[in-house]
Parts: sequence; structure tokens; C-alpha cells
Amino acid sequence: MVIIENKGLIMAASSKVKRIGILTGGGDCPGLNAVIRGVTKPAQDYGMSVLGIIDGFEGLVEGRAKELKNDDVSGILARGGTILGSSNKGDPFHWPIQKDGKIEIANKSEAALRNYQAWNLDALIAIGGDGTMHICKKLGEMGMNMIGVPKTIDNDLEATDLTFGHDSAVYVVAEALDRLHTTASSHHRVIVVEVMGRYAGWIALNGGLAGGADIILIPEIPFSWDRVYDKILKRELMGKKFSLVCVSEGAKPMDGEMVIKGQDIKRHDPVQLGGIGELVAKKIEENTNRETRVTVLGHLQRGGSPTPFDRILSTKFGAFAIQLAANKKFGRMVALKGSDVKNVRIEEAISHQKLVQPDTQAVFAAKAVGISFGE
Ligand code: F6P
Repeated sequence: MVIIENKGLIMAASSKVKRIGILTGGGDCPGLNAVIRGVTKPAQDYGMSVLGIIDGFEGLVEGRAKELKNDDVSGILARGGTILGSSNKGDPFHWPIQKDGKIEIANKSEAALRNYQAWNLDALIAIGGDGTMHICKKLGEMGMNMIGVPKTIDNDLEATDLTFGHDSAVYVVAEALDRLHTTASSHHRVIVVEVMGRYAGWIALNGGLAGGADIILIPEIPFSWDRVYDKILKRELMGKKFSLVCVSEGAKPMDGEMVIKGQDIKRHDPVQLGGIGELVAKKIEENTNRETRVTVLGHLQRGGSPTPFDRILSTKFGAFAIQLAANKKFGRMVALKGSDVKNVRIEEAISHQKLVQPDTQAVFAAKAVGISFGE
């Protein structure tokens, strides 16, 4: 057997992959458990054992993990959240430490590597968004055999046509808009719905389309306040005395900035967005004199059971990820391309953020049915 040195890790070149770790990193979303199940159930067919790492990369650094067997993943397909726990503050390369009443940032990647070795892992499957994929790339450079599975309700990961979780979030937005439609129309009100998505407008765009919003505001298309007021008043002239505005948390007016709720330096991206819904509602009421209310959907979009679409996509991603592990295709991320699951280099996934292009078909269709983007 040939022994090769791989940046700190001693690997047997001809050995089979026998033991894999799995973790869920970053914010949770519907479908994580379906991936864990999709990885763990076929593992024994490949002759592999699966170690579930607790609370994402935090558990990798702190050495917290548990064996996963078929029984542990039985009945979790439709369950929201993650049975392993997750964290968006456990980046090994950006590890917050409380010192003299202040927070200092340390590098704990060596601890992560030590645990990976101590657990005898041949590969680690990390399910997460762009923050997780950045960490995967760096851990891969240290010699860990990383495989990425893309998740995020935001759908902002380049190199995959879709991330699981997005469809479930869109479902929540559409259902909320359906419900708000009836109350907005009964009371002749404007209702503003703020949705998540960070710097990408996919949730607002797809949710707004599915729920029949009258105005959709997204980060990629800065809006004019006057155009927003005009649309509401024009609808009234047509006998529609109510309007639904679906606004992405990252949307911004042409003459302004994104609304930031707070900063958290412990996270990969410290910026916490939120508050644009309140601002939009206030400005509409002040400038159109129409009664306006706001609903912030917040974490409702991340909780609960995945849609059938997300269950299927997550299961395919999980089953494909363990196949990649068995074939020693490390440094790769599973990705949906059209209707097929393929794999791409992890670097490709993080080279750009996937944003809504203003000339995309969904924007075209929305405009065709009379939805305004406040341009
Ligand atoms: O990335 C997923 C996401 O839900 C974003 O849409 C949102 O901005 C952010 O996470 C919220 O994070 P937290 O749960 O830490 O408040």
C-alpha cells in the first residue's frame, strides 16, 4: 500500500472510504434531515459508517459527535430543522473567544483537523450555504476530504440551479400572501410583507410571483419610492382598493441603502438585515394616505416541514454526496443542473453570489402580468 503525505494528513492511497462525517452548517432550512437520511441510509451498502457532528463546525472544533445508524434517520424525511443541530457562529477560521469582556477572533482550524483525524474520518460531508462552502474550501486545503451539499432558503449559491430549502420558503411566502390577500382586500389596505433572502431577491421574486403580489422589491433592482406610490394609486383607479407589496430584506431604494438591523462579528457575514418592511409601510402610508400594515415573515420561512420538491431534491443530494465519497471525489459540491444532480468544484460554488438578473424570465413574467418592481 502506498502512503502519501497530503498536507498534514497521512492517507492510504489505495484504501477504501470507510468512515464519513456529516454536519449541517449555517442557518437551518427545511430538507436538512432529508439529506442526512439520504447519506446515512445508503452508507451501509457502501460499507461505510457515519459520524454525525453536532452543531455544525462548532462540534468539529469542540469534538462533539455521535454515530448515526439507520434507526437514527428513520422517520426524519419530513421533519424540519436538523437532528444534528447547526450554528452560524462556528467558523473554525473565525472563532470568537471572550477575553477581558471583549470578543477576539481565533483560528481553531488545527483543532478541527485533529478531531477529523482522531475520529478516523476518510471524508466529511458538509451541508450548508456559502459560508459553509468557504470553510469547506479552506479545510480541504488543510488536507481534509470535503464534500459539499448546498442548502439555503436564499438560493444564492452559484453553480447549482437550486438549493434545497428555497422551495419550502417560497411556499411559506405564497401561503402568507394568499392569506394577506383576503384581509387586505376586506379592509382596503396596503399590506407589506418582508421576506428573507439576504442580498439576493429570489425568495421575494418567486414567493411574490406565486402569491400574486402587486409590487415586488428586490436588492438587484433598486426602487423609486414614487413608482411604488404610483402603482398603489393606479390600482385604486382600476377599482383595486388594496395592494400587496412583497419586499426582500435586502431591497433598497435608488436613493438609499439596505436597512440593517444589527451586526454580529461572530458570524461569517456580520450584517443582519431587517427593517425595510417597516420603512416601506411607513413611507407608503405617509405618501399615499392609504392605511398600511406590515408582516415580517422571518424564521417562519426556515421552519417546518420541507415541501415534496425539497424532500426529493434533498434525498437526491444526500444519495449523490455519499456516492461522491465512495468514489473519492473530494473537494466537490453536489449541484442541480437542469433536472440532473451533478458535481462541481467547491470553488465554483463560492466564486460568485447567484443574484437575480433583471432580465431573467421570472422578472419578465412578473412584469408581463402587471407586477411592479418600483423601477
Ligand atoms: O441565509 C439564510 C437566512 O435566513 C437569511 O435569509 C437571513 O438574512 C439570515 O439567514 C437570518 O439569519 P439568523 O437566523 O441568524 O437571524
